[in-house]
Amino acid sequence: MTGFDHFSAIAPIYARAAYSKKDAMREAASLPVQGRLLDVGGGTGRVASALREYVDEIVVADVSFGMLAHSPRADLAAVCGASESLPFADDFFERVIMVDALHHVVDHTHTAREMFRVLKPGGVLVIEEPDIRAFGVKLIALAEKLLLMRSHFLAPDGIMKLFDRGEKEARSVDGTVWVIVKKLF
Ligand SMILES: C[S@@+](CC[C@H](N)C(=O)[O-])C[C@H]1O[C@@H](n2cnc3c(N)ncnc32)[C@H](O)[C@@H]1O
Repeated sequence: MTGFDHFSAIAPIYARAAYSKKDAMREAASLPVQGRLLDVGGGTGRVASALREYVDEIVVADVSFGMLAHSPRADLAAVCGASESLPFADDFFERVIMVDALHHVVDHTHTAREMFRVLKPGGVLVIEEPDIRAFGVKLIALAEKLLLMRSHFLAPDGIMKLFDRGEKEARSVDGTVWVIVKKLF
């Protein structure tokens, strides 16, 4: 990672935080499932820990070594790397998720392409993001700009447009959006 890694500095806070949207994610990602799940930008494994019982294997990929190092569990595989160039074979995962990380990546297009590439045909990809149309999220976006966090939020339509293949759907509830992409072939 180039530049200051804000996330290493706040990793202990993430490591203690619970994931409150487990039920919505379970439904969006059609869990449980047999096979592997990749959590891109998965940080400390906060979300992966909550979903661990619903899939055989979980890999957490994140660009911040400091975040990965705070993972509380030994049964989550961790890979340090950027979402724009995932070190996995094509069609490798039954599920691919990304929570609260898309607005932090350097390149949305490459990230979406890579997440779709590593997803198996028949698999489901879910991106959960703060919904930038909500006033509270606009304030968070402003705060992250002031902290020089390089955040760039996309509205649900913009996230959907990153995918030119697959069956797509966006759900928005209380300031959170879930974009669900099913890879058909
Ligand atoms: C707000 S945290 C969310 C972490 C985790 N998904 C969660 O909900 O607890 C955003 C994460 O995205 C990671 N990240 C930012 N840019 C990335 C990139 N290009 N590739 C992979 N991870 C990235 C950060 O290191 C950080 O761990």
